[in-house]
Amino acid sequence: MASEKPLVVVTCTAPVNIAVIKYWGKRDEDLVLPINSSLSVTLHQDQLKTTTTAAISKEFTEDRIWLNGREEDIGQPRLQACLREIRRLARKRRSSGDEDPPPLSLSYKVHIASVNNFPTAAGLASSAAGYACLAYALARVYGVDSDLSEVARRGSGSACRSLFGGFVEWQMGERPDGKDSIARQVAPECHWPELRVLILVVSAERKLTGSTVGMQTSVETSPLLRFRAESVVPARMAEMTRCIQERDFQAFGQLTMKDSNQFHATCLDTFPPISYLNDISRRIVRLVHCFNAHHGQTKVAYTFDAGPNAVVFTLNDTVPEFVAAVRHCFPPESNGDKFLKGLPVGPASLSDELRAALDVDPTPGGVTYIIATQVGPGPQVLDDPHAHLLGPDGLPKAAA
Ligand code: DP6
Repeated sequence: MASEKPLVVVTCTAPVNIAVIKYWGKRDEDLVLPINSSLSVTLHQDQLKTTTTAAISKEFTEDRIWLNGREEDIGQPRLQACLREIRRLARKRRSSGDEDPPPLSLSYKVHIASVNNFPTAAGLASSAAGYACLAYALARVYGVDSDLSEVARRGSGSACRSLFGGFVEWQMGERPDGKDSIARQVAPECHWPELRVLILVVSAERKLTGSTVGMQTSVETSPLLRFRAESVVPARMAEMTRCIQERDFQAFGQLTMKDSNQFHATCLDTFPPISYLNDISRRIVRLVHCFNAHHGQTKVAYTFDAGPNAVVFTLNDTVPEFVAAVRHCFPPESNGDKFLKGLPVGPASLSDELRAALDVDPTPGGVTYIIATQVGPGPQVLDDPHAHLLGPDGLPKAAA
């Protein structure tokens, strides 16, 4: 590109997060302000991440975005809200006169390209990683170094929790303008090295109600949701923080399961009711409780978001036996060798006692595959220019 101002291009990656105290319900739809605080675990980017390149140039005539190689409509209100917000922050920085070096013109249009390293078809929520990555990349390209909670949140509420690694809370805040509705790290990723996360991918046949519409209907119709937000979540936030700080797995696991169950109870209390769990999800719930009962303690804990996939927390020494139990209950159908992805898992055999305790009829193929992962860091900037998804012309590089 022959111009006196070069193309400014930045590539970042951002993680997926899974809530252990769930966000469900907004008090302000436009500003994406929640009715309760929430708390999540950031998953490792070696297994699940979004990569985003943002480039600005005075040569660009319009803002454009490509997701997984396909151009999408940049006019979507949530994308527009993120762009407006980052440009507002960049202007604010300039007017306060503390920029160094002087920023490029804010009138420059931006090109954005974003890809996930995991199949979107698996139904794993990607909007949190996607909007966190977008916020992070835009901030770098426009030279913004303030808190990015609002930028990410305007894209998707849960995205503000993907701005940090480790264990992250999203404080609901009280102000009508949302300035105090921010994400903050509770503990870094190195805090609990034994913690492991298994994503049990369950095939879904039906089209599900999206989170945004689902939670809106819940806010309008579920008295249980209001009770949860006002009378249950505040104490749970404090208790979950304690569990994490003290690495108390038993209490962490129990509270994680209870909060997931209560979130799904509010979905059933919504009118018309919403159900995200399917038969396989419920079998996984039973498997986890049978496994724990057999051991006489909480060794594994499930949580489910707005879909049938289970996310299971456990400690590293329990992983092989639990994976063997999953294989027993959901014998892999065709892809036995690809059943386990991510971190390596050692072999284990099931004792006759545990096999008897599992008490479920095997459902072949019920779990399509497992992704084994762990707690991970927050967004990163990639310095290697080869990582850019946009070429020197500002258009997506041809897929290799
Ligand atoms: C069930 O962040 O996807 O995963 O703010 O409308 O984009 P919007 O919703 P979203 O909702 C996530 C809901 C959840 C629970 C959670 O992640 O806390």
